[in-house]
Amino acid sequence: MAQQTHDVVVIGAGPGGYVAAIRAAQLGLSVACVDREKVLGGTCLRIGCIPSKALLESSEHYAAAKHDLKAHGVNVGEVTLDLPTMMKRKEAVVRQLTNGIASLFKKNKITAYEGRARIAGLGKVIVEGAERTEITAKHIILATGSKPATIKGVEFVADRIGSSTEALSYPEVPEHLVVIGAGYIGLELGSVWQRLGAKVTVLEYLDRILPGMDLETAREAEKVFKKQGIEFRLGSKVVGATVEGNKCTVVVEGSAPIVCDRVLVSVGRTPNTTDIGLETVNIVPDARGYIPIDGHFATAAPNIYAIGDIVRGPMLAHKAEEEGVACAEHIAGGYGHVNYDCIPGIVYTHPEIATVGKSEEQLTEAGIAYRKGVFPFMANGRAKALAQTDGRVKILADAKTDRVLGVHIIGPRAGDLIAEAVAAMEFGASSEDIARTCHAHPTLAEVMKEAALAVAGREIHM
Ligand code: NAI
Repeated sequence: MAQQTHDVVVIGAGPGGYVAAIRAAQLGLSVACVDREKVLGGTCLRIGCIPSKALLESSEHYAAAKHDLKAHGVNVGEVTLDLPTMMKRKEAVVRQLTNGIASLFKKNKITAYEGRARIAGLGKVIVEGAERTEITAKHIILATGSKPATIKGVEFVADRIGSSTEALSYPEVPEHLVVIGAGYIGLELGSVWQRLGAKVTVLEYLDRILPGMDLETAREAEKVFKKQGIEFRLGSKVVGATVEGNKCTVVVEGSAPIVCDRVLVSVGRTPNTTDIGLETVNIVPDARGYIPIDGHFATAAPNIYAIGDIVRGPMLAHKAEEEGVACAEHIAGGYGHVNYDCIPGIVYTHPEIATVGKSEEQLTEAGIAYRKGVFPFMANGRAKALAQTDGRVKILADAKTDRVLGVHIIGPRAGDLIAEAVAAMEFGASSEDIARTCHAHPTLAEVMKEAALAVAGREIHM
């Protein structure tokens, strides 16, 4: 067995792990990063954020060419779909970015190991790859990510009943796609296939979509998606699904079974915390599989840290990245910090939905008095020019101090617009600070300014 020694070994090369590795290397530590996949980047780059965004972009172009360009005076003749080319482009985007991480590792002198890593006691990791390697390291960072969750009665069957991984690569457009779960994945990938021509039915257990998100914003989103042709059946508990030939049958409690071509199960994700040797160092995951940590990502075992999807908080790539940086800085210098109040969440549908901070429901529950400013994209010149006027910006500010506590956007490029709100909140801004900041005209960002003005009831263009 080969023996290697490093200061830090990171298990997992997703956004949490690879960023932690780079930051630790920048701080002068000798770093190893292990991943069982040949391709670096984890779920996000290989089978998550990046390929889904590539398909969202392509399918948006297709839908625009088919339905929207005419209104701009652009006639393109018959619009046809070349799905293999769309998929090839998606794969090329993934390839470029995953190769990019390999180059970053090289530049930062990080040693990448390919193989399955397991902790084998304090300061010891065994990698089972082409050869067996024992890595000795003072610090171990666990960043093993998550996998799609399943529900009782629904087993994955090839690519007929599957997760987002399969839905990123269907060989043809399903005639009827049933999506189980109206969360991030269900809405994004449901949108992709709906735009490409599938009938999409979303079955959601709760009486609302996007649980956890500001309710008013989620209801507005539901209306917009319905208008686009996505069918929602809320309050639907899926209890079974089967495949016969090319057809799937989905069983919903209390209503007739639904027959369709493919089923996308998007009911959340489960932390990857089994089979990584936690028992050798007495780390016990909680009932849902998460690894308990303290405020500095330290687990119950000395010098073993955990970040990203395997610890509490939202399962988001950028949250994992922030934790990776803070964890590496803590190891190298004793200090690292993540502001969990300022982590944005974005659903990359059309229009996009983006939020940061507290929802109205959370503020009410916490007994915090707030003022609310809302401004619609309908009254914004740039949105009109883009012909994308669905949606609004909502700013929630503390009733006494005017400090911005939450911003919720549904509308064109909401995912980019939210950055202003995140920066404002990070600096402890008041809604008046945003309202008094000059926003260029004509831009979508003016809706943010108007919503901030609306907190004090003095919006200009309404
Ligand atoms: P999710 O947690 O966002 O939504 C799952 C939905 O499934 C919930 O609405 C839940 O009520 C519903 N559900 C659960 N059991 C059900 C049942 N038996 N029948 C019907 N509905 C049921 O999970 P999702 O969409 O799978 O995403 C997983 C994770 O990936 C999320 O934590 C998300 O943060 C992350 N993600 C983030 C993206 C982004 O940042 N744009 C994109 C894709 C995923």
